[in-house]
Amino acid sequence: MSRNFKKVIAIDGPAGSGKSTVAERLADELSTLYIDTGAMYRAVTFKALNENIDFDDKKSIEKLVDDIDISLEKTEQGLKVLLNGNDVTKKLRSSKVNKNISRIAKNKIVRKKMVQMQRQFGAKGAIVEGRDIGTVVFKKAYKKFYLDAHLDERIKRRLKQAKSKGRRVDEKTIKEEVINRDRSDRSRKIGPLRISPDSIYIDTTNLSIDEVVNKILNFIKNE
Ligand code: DC
Repeated sequence: MSRNFKKVIAIDGPAGSGKSTVAERLADELSTLYIDTGAMYRAVTFKALNENIDFDDKKSIEKLVDDIDISLEKTEQGLKVLLNGNDVTKKLRSSKVNKNISRIAKNKIVRKKMVQMQRQFGAKGAIVEGRDIGTVVFKKAYKKFYLDAHLDERIKRRLKQAKSKGRRVDEKTIKEEVINRDRSDRSRKIGPLRISPDSIYIDTTNLSIDEVVNKILNFIKNE
């Protein structure tokens, strides 16, 4: 298997489809960068909430994205997210961020800036994971994958993930969050979640992480 992979692999799909874990593992296998674009939208949302920004005020949003500096660092504990130099990794998965993220993710000014940053980050090759990677950010990606799973399984995974991160949440709350996010991810006008016609669709409902990673590696290897 090739190492120091220099091309872009796009992975899109809804919340809980297994994208993040799979993308991180693939980046390790191929010795390339892992770009979690969801973490970037989460960081913008966190900053907007922290600074009490009016989400509907164009000028405030412009200032927010002008001043923003996001970097993603690989660590032994997983991806570290730095927002203007501060480690905010542990603050990005709160209910407050989850509840407000769709208002930030649908903003044209925010998306323009995020797409620009993501293209810069991935310019030398990367595993890029999100909602609009194959359809907007890297339309010419070397390979595109769309990961999916049944709703119940996605809720189960998100609940497990939230609990492992110390969030005290119940299934009902997680179910609402996933359903609401699915709706807003699919219905926003700019960069909605869509299956790119040239992507490879993988239903991960009954697959382990290893199985998904190996499936993807086989597609790359057999090219
Ligand atoms: O992958 P995630 O659950 O961390 O993403 C959080 C939210 O960020 C998701 O509901 C919508 C937004 N997002 C987006 O709009 N575009 C992307 N490329 C990635 C995430």
